[in-house]
Amino acid sequence: MDMNKVSGHSTTVLHVNDDHYEVLVKPNAVLLHTLREQVGLTGVKGGCENGDCGACTVLVDGLPQKSCMMLTIEVGERKITTIEGLKDTEIQKAFVNFSGFQCGYCTAGFLLNAHALLQFNPSATEDEKKAWLNSNLCRCTGYEGIRDAVNAAQKEILENK
Ligand code: FES
Ligand code: FES
Repeated sequence: MDMNKVSGHSTTVLHVNDDHYEVLVKPNAVLLHTLREQVGLTGVKGGCENGDCGACTVLVDGLPQKSCMMLTIEVGERKITTIEGLKDTEIQKAFVNFSGFQCGYCTAGFLLNAHALLQFNPSATEDEKKAWLNSNLCRCTGYEGIRDAVNAAQKEILENK
């Protein structure tokens, strides 16, 4: 007897940061928990777990998604990027240089969301950046460091185009 069928689990392969991971999940497994608990990528953080705070943001085929609101089996063959996949990017360097974080809990979500914006719309205006980043909350920084970091990364990207 196939015990996985009995328990409702199924195997799926996730494509994360240029690696493949086979995971065994229930139909209601949430991507946030699968990434942290099965794939071992703990840079993705759980906060509100109802789509409000943005701490759990990952990129799916380059677009920001709140991983607490996505089922693992929904992902299919799409490519997931977590904070571990943004090493040495302009946005990562800028957050360090401009102190875009304090406790750091929200930081992965902000970095991924801002990275996606600057990939799709490198010339984003102040209003566009503000609106885009509205989906992420920070309880520590007052947002100035985050804004300065995003602006610095944008400048760097535009100058190197
Ligand atoms: S934990 Fe997903 S939006 Fe808050
Ligand atoms: S740096 Fe602490 S919540 Fe944003």
